[in-house]
Amino acid sequence: MSANVIDGKAIAKEVRAELKVRAEILEKNGLKPGLAVIIVGDDPAAKIYVRNKVKACSEVGIHSEVHNFPEDTLQDDVQCCIQELNENPFIHGILVQLPLPQHFDANRIMTSIAVEKDVDGFHLYNVGALVTGNTVFSPCTPHGIMIMLNKKHIPIEGQHAVMVGRSNIVGKPMALMLLEKGATVTICTSKTRDLAMYTKNADILVVATGRPRMISKEMVKSGATVIDVGINRLPDGKLVGDVDFASVKEKAGFITPVPGGVGPMTITMLLCNTIEAAERVYGVI
Ligand code: GUN
Repeated sequence: MSANVIDGKAIAKEVRAELKVRAEILEKNGLKPGLAVIIVGDDPAAKIYVRNKVKACSEVGIHSEVHNFPEDTLQDDVQCCIQELNENPFIHGILVQLPLPQHFDANRIMTSIAVEKDVDGFHLYNVGALVTGNTVFSPCTPHGIMIMLNKKHIPIEGQHAVMVGRSNIVGKPMALMLLEKGATVTICTSKTRDLAMYTKNADILVVATGRPRMISKEMVKSGATVIDVGINRLPDGKLVGDVDFASVKEKAGFITPVPGGVGPMTITMLLCNTIEAAERVYGVI
């Protein structure tokens, strides 16, 4: 059996077309949605992410602005900038690109963003709201995965979902969202003893470990839905996920490719959260 490959690019295109219409409606009513992105330091990968976010904003009609700070910036200076953006009526979403330099306290930074502008969903209030099942903004990567599962009519309630990875950005919020939809959730890490014992029992397997092709065909149940969040560059320049796509595709029911799977959905959900933030200001939702 060969799996149904979930085309994240196609789903993202479809969702972005809907978002463009919502942005146009807002703009016609004198409210152009606006996103501010803060980036500290010179990390090349972070800069590429930010460039892609800015490009995606302009494609759907969201105003965006980038605030660059050097690596040795004081945390207080970034917090002053966040304070100004919190009060800026043209900005509806604020995102601080991670990772931050070592001398920063990421939780303190996230908590200085106004909850109603926290489009990344990383403010401790939004994290808590996720635990109780009533989010203001859901973190973008797991939110995008939930949309993909929904679009493909993949059942969640009563299913066994296994999350490999426990990051604040993906693993923990993903597990909570699946739990909220009625899945039985197991959280593993790349260091879990006998990892295959868990993954082989997963109806839905989500992997976010940053370890290239660590999930092999033998570790997957026949017909399972396999979602690969990893993006790893091999020494030969090739981009691969955390799942061995070529072999797992022969056994899974659904699988996301890398690139072109989860990645395009993450930025789409950032756009979605920003438009939602602007709609709340205008009283549309
Ligand atoms: N760095 C890697 N992923 C993310 C993300 O989703 N949001 C932010 N702010 N930084 C990131």
